[in-house]
Amino acid sequence: MSAINIALLGMGTVGTGVVKILANNAHNIEQKVGAPVVIKKILVRNPGKVRNAPTDAKIVTDIDEILNDPDIKIVAEVMGGEMPSKDYMLAALKAGKHVVTANKDVVAKYGRELFEAAEANHTDFLFEASVGGGIPIIRPLKQCLAANQITEIMGIVNGTTNYMLTKMTNEKMDYADVLAEAQAKGYAESDPTADVGGFDAARKIAILASIAFGARITLDDVNVEGITNIAIEDIEYARELGFNIKLLAIAKQDDCGINVRVHPAFLPTSHPLASVNDVFNAIFVKGDAVGETMFYGRGAGELPTASAVTADIIDVARDIRHNVSSRILCTCFDHKHIYPVSKTESPYYIRLLVEDKPGVLAAIAGAFGAQQVSLHSVIQKRKVERSTELVLITYRVSDENIRLAMNTLLGMSVVSKVGNVIRVEAEQIS
Ligand SMILES: NC(=O)c1ccc[n+]([C@@H]2O[C@H](COP(=O)([O-])OP(=O)(O)OC[C@H]3O[C@@H](n4cnc5c(N)ncnc54)[C@H](OP(=O)(O)O)[C@@H]3O)[C@@H](O)[C@H]2O)c1
Repeated sequence: MSAINIALLGMGTVGTGVVKILANNAHNIEQKVGAPVVIKKILVRNPGKVRNAPTDAKIVTDIDEILNDPDIKIVAEVMGGEMPSKDYMLAALKAGKHVVTANKDVVAKYGRELFEAAEANHTDFLFEASVGGGIPIIRPLKQCLAANQITEIMGIVNGTTNYMLTKMTNEKMDYADVLAEAQAKGYAESDPTADVGGFDAARKIAILASIAFGARITLDDVNVEGITNIAIEDIEYARELGFNIKLLAIAKQDDCGINVRVHPAFLPTSHPLASVNDVFNAIFVKGDAVGETMFYGRGAGELPTASAVTADIIDVARDIRHNVSSRILCTCFDHKHIYPVSKTESPYYIRLLVEDKPGVLAAIAGAFGAQQVSLHSVIQKRKVERSTELVLITYRVSDENIRLAMNTLLGMSVVSKVGNVIRVEAEQIS
């Protein structure tokens, strides 16, 4: 069988990994596909740069050299960024080439357009590496769990913030120090907003929720809160109370519709996601037939991410061999109601600084009671100058009611400061 020729768009971290895997595992891959898979051309920005893996592929800087080459059947986009990556992928699909990408930004924003182009041109469009790096999650949702109604996805899908929260928990480092260390180690960008602000996780959960619930969910549908307000005190109180703080990406489908959000949460230490540490990612999925499943591994890095990109290339190559391309494309069949975070319910952790004088507790309990917020526990933690720090855990309550109660509290003269308000991701507090 003659070789299946492919092109890479980009030879940075992930592209280099793809070059290495296709070279190191060439024999295995040829057996699985039934033909050799050969990289014919690689598009880069700077052709003079020294690359970290040897390759016989022609290095090019003009996308037309790839688009106009009829021998190239598969284009793997590992350049990153929205533009020109999206335009190049669209042009490749229109030229009848199959496309594989690791690019969550483009999939989350332009997925529909790319799927439509793939469908119109009978080509494959696969994007396993766009969420969870090396962890299989797109294919499991689209194929292995296809028989299920998925009711919930809950994931730790951003390695940078998980590394930071793990360090804060294990080494009692504060937020600013741990961010500086993550930047020095290359885990966090010099502008860390996409990670610490929760936006990277939001793009990923929008992609996962769209597949899981069969409806298009965009970044605008995701309620996003990051970890920038998490203080070392919150981490320590969480530990004392039997929780770990994690940045969770959550998508739930129930009788009210779909709710999708990213926020830090108190997670009981007994929950399988609570022990996912450092840069590791994990995604917990509940289906009506399968029950609970969890996917765990490295969410980024050269070889883990390239493992997922190369698996997509192998899948497409098999489809080409058997002339069955375009089998599994867009699965967003329905329009579904997406309900706002204000209608979601959970128990809450609240940290307050209040005046140290009689009657304060009763006034605070009254403010909560007026918004139907029942308190499970109130713990007086320590003195901070002339104030007392209180930690409160509520029973299950709506986000709307907790916000109303907090607004009242902020206007009370006995409340000097609201330290933090964090959801507890548990059905109920025991
Ligand atoms: N790195 C990870 O661990 C990871 C994990 C999951 C997903 N991803 C995704 O994988 C993709 C690639 O990430 P990466 O870390 O490998 O990126 P990277 O190291 O920055 O590499 C980007 C590559 O694309 C080339 N490139 C960029 N813009 C170009 C343009 N306009 N024209 C031609 N070539 C261009 C660069 O060329 P030069 O080499 O000449 O500069 C470089 O080879 C991104 O979508 C990212 O979100 C990465």
